[in-house]
Amino acid sequence: MKNYHLWNPCTDVEDIAEMVDIGPICIAGGKGVYVYNRQGKRYLNAGGSLWNVAVGHGRQELCDAASEQMQKLAYASCHEQTNDPAMKLAEKLCSMSGNYYDMAYFASNGADAVETAIKTSRQYFRQHSDKTFHDKYKIISFEGCYHGASYGAISTSTDPVDEEMYGPLLDGFLKVKPPFAYHGAYGTTEQTECEKRCLEAVRKLISDENSNTIAAFIAEPVMGCAGVIPFSDEFFVSLIRLLHENHILFIADEVTTGFGRTGRMFVSEAWEERPDMMCLSKGLISGYLPLSAMLATEKVFRNFRGKGKRLEHGYTASGHPVCCAVALKNIEIIEQEELCRNSAEVGEYLFNKLSELKSIRPAIGDLRGRGLMIGIELVDPDDKTPLKADDTFKIMMDTAMLGVLMYYDKNILGLFPPLILTKEQADEIVSVLEKTLDISKSGLRKRRMRMMKILSERMLRQKEGK
Ligand SMILES: Cc1ncc(COP(=O)(O)O)c(C=O)c1O
Repeated sequence: MKNYHLWNPCTDVEDIAEMVDIGPICIAGGKGVYVYNRQGKRYLNAGGSLWNVAVGHGRQELCDAASEQMQKLAYASCHEQTNDPAMKLAEKLCSMSGNYYDMAYFASNGADAVETAIKTSRQYFRQHSDKTFHDKYKIISFEGCYHGASYGAISTSTDPVDEEMYGPLLDGFLKVKPPFAYHGAYGTTEQTECEKRCLEAVRKLISDENSNTIAAFIAEPVMGCAGVIPFSDEFFVSLIRLLHENHILFIADEVTTGFGRTGRMFVSEAWEERPDMMCLSKGLISGYLPLSAMLATEKVFRNFRGKGKRLEHGYTASGHPVCCAVALKNIEIIEQEELCRNSAEVGEYLFNKLSELKSIRPAIGDLRGRGLMIGIELVDPDDKTPLKADDTFKIMMDTAMLGVLMYYDKNILGLFPPLILTKEQADEIVSVLEKTLDISKSGLRKRRMRMMKILSERMLRQKEGK
């Protein structure tokens, strides 16, 4: 395409530029769980865009909230100032946690919230009344985790591209293998045993590294990018207990799982032993504007009270009044329309339907998830080895051509639809998957050929200006 100047993130820009008018590449509109391309073709947004459109597209209430707030006050800083929507949203988030959290810090993206939590944990110990804690700076995370694209966040993950392209990454980041039993982590495929062994590995790491050097452990309650991997509540309770015994803070990254995605408002709200900080973003504002939050308990904030102890970390958009006003309305919709309950109910329905599909589609190796956060791990039907990323990509393209958009990475298809999804729409997703997952090896080859033919013909037509 001529005059294409958009540098897309994580994208081969040349490909996109060639395919702007093909299928769902350029999204021009959205309503409810559906999005539309420039030609008006409808797609069920089962990937929820970037997993974030909790209340669905085209909500007039959210447009009105933004417009009203913009007319009243488009912007005010939260640096040594404050504004009503930011104060109201902070109060609302703390009250949603049953006032377990006491303070809310606002930023724009999930990575900002993570960065804020990491810096907070280091400063917390640096100005602790107990001087033996002043050298606590290391951060533990799970191998394969994803906490965002900033340097602090990529230093928590183990993506070789990050090290290769942007290295050296930051010092002081420790990794531990997550208890992912399906892939036989810690030498077992039994989930409870796997979690037990993981706890032992964390205990050993803490002792090897010396707990007086470790500030925090950050984890996603359900690992998203790693392939939608949930762990038991009991595991997290034991993990946090272990950390607290060693004076290590726990940061729950609920950027993806928060606001009903898993059928609970927050996964960690049900844990007997709770996190010290929680990062939120996606469902907080359903993608209508950029916003994230980092919530901290009074125990954490206590170390920031008093002269010279403030958090020296801020963004121009921290506590942006328009974003906060829209988030308040978004949360009101989630509560009034009982979207957590819907996520749990329709999520269970969808999961059960997918389980039935698994029995007739051997390409489904494993199904995982909670609520409307579901991962479908694809395997070669013959030898059960992970399906190649290329083949998974082709399946994802096929589902798109049949009108359902899904997230994909390596051999995983991910479902993170808007939380307003109905059972009928869940059936639509399953029926498209039933068609596209019929993959004997020759089926795959035929599909690939067909896709390549269609794409190359369209690209040719586009180039010829037809
Ligand atoms: C668990 C988790 N944390 C943090 C992030 C980063 O969020 P953002 O892309 O808004 O910076 C993501 C993004 O997908 C995520 O899944």
